[in-house]
Amino acid sequence: MMKVLGIMGSPRIGGNTDLLLDEALKGAQEQGAEVEKLTVDRMKITACKEIYHCLEDGTCPLKDDMTPVYDKLLAADVVIVATPIFFYTVSAQMLTFMSRCQALWARKYFLKNLDIPVKRGGFIAVGATKGSNLFEGPKLTAKYFFKAINADYTEDLLIRSVDKKAEIKDHPDYLAAAHEMGKKLASG
Ligand SMILES: Cc1cc2nc3c(=O)[nH]c(=O)nc-3n(C[C@H](O)[C@H](O)[C@H](O)COP(=O)(O)O)c2cc1C
Repeated sequence: MMKVLGIMGSPRIGGNTDLLLDEALKGAQEQGAEVEKLTVDRMKITACKEIYHCLEDGTCPLKDDMTPVYDKLLAADVVIVATPIFFYTVSAQMLTFMSRCQALWARKYFLKNLDIPVKRGGFIAVGATKGSNLFEGPKLTAKYFFKAINADYTEDLLIRSVDKKAEIKDHPDYLAAAHEMGKKLASG
């Protein structure tokens, strides 16, 4: 069965990012996928400390709530990253999570032993402003994160002008787009 892992980067539970990711995961479930959601803000994780132990054997010596996540990332067929835009980039929670994936980057690019099939990656981001370059930074961050975990960045949903908690409910079209994205990512 196809495994879809959703990573929720907003501290606001029940907020825009959370609702969008839930829709995407529902769409994936409709396709018969097994889904799991990680809420980064509820995890106790430290940002990468540059110990560089991962360059020796591909594992991270920091032991915290990130430790069991490496196997989940390796096993997933699809990874969906969902984040609010904070200061024109992904949330600090999400960046902390991503920094810890340097261990997988080390396996792929330094040790060259990340022997897993290529995954699909989907990126959902929501910000309050209208700026035309609002997603330039976050898209690059997503691109290099997906490379590190051996995923192709195949889909994204980038939403502007949504600010208040759960305001996304006023935009059923965006929720429907998230649902479709989940379905598409999980389809054979
Ligand atoms: C610390 C912080 C920084 C933010 N920075 C930006 C920003 O740079 N650009 C933007 O468009 N929105 C910014 N916002 C607004 C959020 O992206 C917006 O409210 C979003 O809908 C929150 O999604 P959520 O409900 O999933 O947390 C910021 C909000 C916070 C709390």
